[in-house]
Amino acid sequence: MKSKSYKLIVTAGPTREWIDPVRFISNPSTGQTGWELAWSGLYDRHFREVIFIHGACSEKYMELDGAINISVDSTNEMAQAVKESIGSKSLLFMAAAPADYTPVEFLTQKKKKEPGKNLKIEFKPTTDILKSIQGCAEQLHDFYRVGFAAETQDLKKNAQIKMQTKGLDYICANKVFKSETGFGKHRNTLMVLGKDGSSKMLGPYPKKVLAKDLLKYILDNIN
Ligand code: CTP
Repeated sequence: MKSKSYKLIVTAGPTREWIDPVRFISNPSTGQTGWELAWSGLYDRHFREVIFIHGACSEKYMELDGAINISVDSTNEMAQAVKESIGSKSLLFMAAAPADYTPVEFLTQKKKKEPGKNLKIEFKPTTDILKSIQGCAEQLHDFYRVGFAAETQDLKKNAQIKMQTKGLDYICANKVFKSETGFGKHRNTLMVLGKDGSSKMLGPYPKKVLAKDLLKYILDNIN
């Protein structure tokens, strides 16, 4: 890989699926891992540009000076932004935690409380962003995809299945609720699996160090 020849695309944070004008379904992702990866990319000689596609991250991780920032709300919007950003000679890190379900129906008026009654909402699956780009990805050259898998059990097996079904070159798996990495939420351990059968443990490190190491590991391997 030549210096400044690649585009780095990183997604980060949660997406929101709106139920009515005042309520949404989402998840507690802060966006830190994606932000740290994109930040490391800004200082890496391999990249000519860094695109940071983010949902509603914590305030600290909402903008990245020096990158092209694309702010999105829903999973569909994130899918669209990813589709428009990818191309040949690019590296995609799908570090976002897109919401997996969206209400079947969006209520245009605020849903009023009905005292004593339970509320039932029907949800349908959102677009799987990585799966949705598989077709066009095959037409591109030197386009690499890295996904993440947060698992509570059968870490390696579940991550390998995700890597295959989502057409990834690498997957970074981490066990959630692991006590040894519970040093706040800023430390993490990753098992990086490659479609070539490779396996590498990174960490436990603070997320900034881990992101730098991960980027270096992937670049060394695709070079
Ligand atoms: N992902 C995606 N589109 C979605 C949901 C997830 O592209 N709608 C990406 C994530 O960014 C991540 C990878 O897929 O890189 C795995 O996400 P994860 O939440 O672990 O898996 P899911 O596909 O949502 O499957 P499950 O919830 O059943 O574990």
